[in-house]
Amino acid sequence: MNDFFSFELQSFAEFERHGWEKLSSAYDGSWGHVTSAFAPAILNALPDLEGLRLMDVATGPGYAARLALQRGAKVTGVDFSANMIASARQNVPKAQFEIADVKSLPFNDGEFDFAISNFGFQHFDDPAAAFREIARVLKPHGMLSFTVWAESARNAASLILEQALDRFAQEPNCVPEGPSYDFLLNMEQLHRILQQAGFAAKTTKSCLHVIPWRLRDEDELFRAEYTSSVRSGARLRHEGETARERIREAMAKDIRNHYNEDGKLIIPMAAYIISVRKA
Ligand SMILES: C[S@@+](CC[C@H](N)C(=O)[O-])C[C@H]1O[C@@H](n2cnc3c(N)ncnc32)[C@H](O)[C@@H]1O
Repeated sequence: MNDFFSFELQSFAEFERHGWEKLSSAYDGSWGHVTSAFAPAILNALPDLEGLRLMDVATGPGYAARLALQRGAKVTGVDFSANMIASARQNVPKAQFEIADVKSLPFNDGEFDFAISNFGFQHFDDPAAAFREIARVLKPHGMLSFTVWAESARNAASLILEQALDRFAQEPNCVPEGPSYDFLLNMEQLHRILQQAGFAAKTTKSCLHVIPWRLRDEDELFRAEYTSSVRSGARLRHEGETARERIREAMAKDIRNHYNEDGKLIIPMAAYIISVRKA
């Protein structure tokens, strides 16, 4: 899998899109179990959806889109990966789906009552531009609700992987440099960017949500990262076999020793549910 990506000459956006095209089906059977568990919380941050238009940005296989449809919304999902959209169309035949980049959505101004994005923003090559474009297609007073993974210190999956990579990775980080996502976790900066994008002052709400990931075995996190994560997986796929095996062992040991509740392996997955109203 080492030549899975050709890293040279790829912009961050190309790297991401190419990665999601390749990994769409693996993601649906793996990380998707974890991300989809946050869909109810994203929608709970919005008022009643019945009969109203909702756009799910970076819909992936359509988990949040499916739930929004079940809650009565008229749903349109968007993703820049054609393979993700193909699987979303299969998973949620009653929703509309479009292949598009979040920076240029194929919709008129003010078409939607609501927009959501479940773990999209930490993949966008220009998250501030994404906020502006989403604000454009929302109606006045329309609402956006989205998730971002919490800081590594609160997030066991990132911590376990980062510590193992720090100790055993041999190769330099091969992922093309992307934007900083720090502002998404800093309420003051986030408020400012949201307001500049067209959202109303003092309407941003953020709430930490923690969901236990009950692992089937001590290698499940490694497998999920290796087979179906674009960025951290790329680092694992880029390593030689010996180093990768050491990383796998270190992750398994960490999980065995620190996330073991009477033989049940459970890692807390922490994300912020952030909602904001358009001006
Ligand atoms: C971590 S996945 C989240 C998928 C899904 N929302 C979920 O709940 O699991 C990130 C998704 O963002 C999409 N994506 C990344 N950058 C994008 C962009 N600039 N425009 C549209 N979609 C993008 C990817 O194709 C991928 O499907």
